[in-house]
Amino acid sequence: MSTNALLTEDLNPLPRLLMGPGPINADPRVLRAMSMPLLGQFDPQFTGYMNETMGLLRGLFQTENRWAFLVDGTARAGIEAALVSLIEPGDRVLIPVFGRFGHLLHEIAARCGAEVHTIETEWGTVFSPDAIEDAIRAHRPKLVAIVHGDTSTTMAQPLEALGDICRRYDALLYVDATATLGGMDFRVDAWKIDAATAGLQKCLSGPPGSAPITFNERVERAVLRRKHVEEGIRPAGFTPGAGSRIQSNYFDLGMLMDYWGEERLNHHTEATSMLYAARECARIVLREGLDQVVDRHAVASRATVAGLEAMGLRIFGDVDHKMANVTGVYIPEGVDGEAVRAGMLNDFGIEIGSSFGPLRGRIWRIGAMGYNCRKQNVLICLSALEATLRRTSFRVEAGAAVEAAFAVYDEQPASNPTR
Ligand SMILES: Cc1ncc(COP(=O)(O)O)c(C=O)c1O
Repeated sequence: MSTNALLTEDLNPLPRLLMGPGPINADPRVLRAMSMPLLGQFDPQFTGYMNETMGLLRGLFQTENRWAFLVDGTARAGIEAALVSLIEPGDRVLIPVFGRFGHLLHEIAARCGAEVHTIETEWGTVFSPDAIEDAIRAHRPKLVAIVHGDTSTTMAQPLEALGDICRRYDALLYVDATATLGGMDFRVDAWKIDAATAGLQKCLSGPPGSAPITFNERVERAVLRRKHVEEGIRPAGFTPGAGSRIQSNYFDLGMLMDYWGEERLNHHTEATSMLYAARECARIVLREGLDQVVDRHAVASRATVAGLEAMGLRIFGDVDHKMANVTGVYIPEGVDGEAVRAGMLNDFGIEIGSSFGPLRGRIWRIGAMGYNCRKQNVLICLSALEATLRRTSFRVEAGAAVEAAFAVYDEQPASNPTR
């Protein structure tokens, strides 16, 4: 389209139902919060919203940590902030990799100058705590970095035992909870996770562009050892920490603490509308209740699996360790997976995902998360997939998928909000 024609065309995307691995449709309450008037970053109203957001994030992460705030940027901004602030060049880092996002942790840790050790398991499986402990014993890392739910494989790594193991070997534990926070149980304090980060665009029902982070005093101490404040805002008499300066200015957790703490040192300009979004995302989840939210995702997962199996499709990976908010399913032999995705999008306005690396062209990924995780969307998505598949050579019994999903929802008590 020419620039002149563009000037007369409003931005008007066709509505889509986003049933892939994220992003998903934002909750209208979040979009409404984002359209609220902008405020100056030191306006007491705004700093009040920053403090409120910190409190709400503590609730989401199930932590008493003093530090819970937002890193501006998509989820990987949170990952970078945690890793660049903790890793000094030459530090040993252990990364158990069970999908694409484990490789991302490796990539970022290596750029921070870490001596990275990885252990890998086949995509579609997770690690036993013993396998991770063996690797920690062998490599004695300063930091263990791991993904909770890796959307590329749809697997969720059990984390309950990891914190204790890391503490036994005096290692810090960082977890990427981008794809699980607000959809699966995730307990920072109870599981002794030292630092965790997330994003808004999955189970938190927001747009991409803000990364919640939390970390405890063990991490705070490691960061303060490297504390450096940029010239121009540095308080008189400030003495930098003895450790090496954090390589990134933008992602320097030390300076971010000074921005979110009482000092309110002007590090960056907080992304006002994204803060409104994050505050609303957290408020919506906590208002529903973490247990209810987890239950809603678990029921949708069971209904999706039942529906897909009733269509004669095979679920990918270790189903006992499947993420609740996204399901991997094999593309049947002889079916063009991309043509089916295009049919879903063009005929029904529904997006489902493909995958990466070894799973490219082998599985679809179907998500039901956050605002989209509702019975009606699960049923609509299954019906659309069934109808699309029936236009290929693959034989599907009409109506079986929806009936199987209905059966799962029908088992829920009438009071269950998943209905
Ligand atoms: C587990 C996990 N980590 C990190 C990311 C990266 O998030 P973003 O694209 O918001 O930077 C994703 C995105 O899908 C993810 O699923």
